[in-house]
Amino acid sequence: MAHNTERRPVSSEEPWEARDGIGAGRAAWEEHASWWQENFTAGADPEYEEQILPLFASHLEGAQRVLDVGTGEGQMARLAAESCPMVVGMDPSAAQVGLGAARGGGVHYLRADGAHCPFASESFDAVTICLVLEHVLDLEAVLDEVARILAPGGRLLLALNHPLLQTPGSGWIDDHILEEQYWRIGPYLQEQVTTEEVSKGIFLTFVHRPLSIYVNGLARRGLYVTALEEPAPPPGFLALAHEYEQAASIPRLAFVRAEKFSGTPC
Ligand SMILES: C[S@@+](CC[C@H](N)C(=O)[O-])C[C@H]1O[C@@H](n2cnc3c(N)ncnc32)[C@H](O)[C@@H]1O
Repeated sequence: MAHNTERRPVSSEEPWEARDGIGAGRAAWEEHASWWQENFTAGADPEYEEQILPLFASHLEGAQRVLDVGTGEGQMARLAAESCPMVVGMDPSAAQVGLGAARGGGVHYLRADGAHCPFASESFDAVTICLVLEHVLDLEAVLDEVARILAPGGRLLLALNHPLLQTPGSGWIDDHILEEQYWRIGPYLQEQVTTEEVSKGIFLTFVHRPLSIYVNGLARRGLYVTALEEPAPPPGFLALAHEYEQAASIPRLAFVRAEKFSGTPC
């Protein structure tokens, strides 16, 4: 899910210049869509299977109209479609939504950026965004759109690589001089854009932001946090990542449920 056990920044240069008319961060997702699909979808990834998908399923209960922003090949959207009558999966990558359409599952697919949702205001009662916003430069525009298209009382279900404990530069340290082991936390308060080699030859753009940027950005738009989950890494992940065993009490995921205020302001 978080691509590897220790995120390794290879560059903090501005990676956003246009390439083929779209931002480099998005272009990288187009280029590496098959890497994502092979390693993190269709049952390949224990964190999705044992943790992320069940968590979203429990919070989707009762939703009728769901938009999955940054749907990738649609694993979250397909999950939603098992219980919700109308589900749209949206992603700027043609390679992602193309496979989503081929995999089916009762989802309507659309190629679009989260900053420009082609839907009327208050069209959805649930929006899901899973491991996407840490790749998005213009967070404000995406949050504006989420707040606009959600109906009053609607919910946003958001999963992030844990912004505090997975800050770039974080990781398990074996100190052989002091004979100590500890979890190093990178520069948390500093917003930073990095390009990271998440697997050999796979370079992706990450935007690190403190958790308060997300929570306060939602609150400014009338979206209030009603649940925050920080689950421990699931057994299937620990079985594959032995180097993480000692750090099993350090969450890799932050899950936020926020609901759009539907009452009269005091
Ligand atoms: C880590 S994948 C997650 C895919 C899917 N949400 C899942 O959980 O399987 C990140 C996805 O975000 C998409 N993405 C990147 N920038 C985006 C943007 N500005 N708006 C919407 N999606 C974006 C990428 O194309 C990619 O499919």
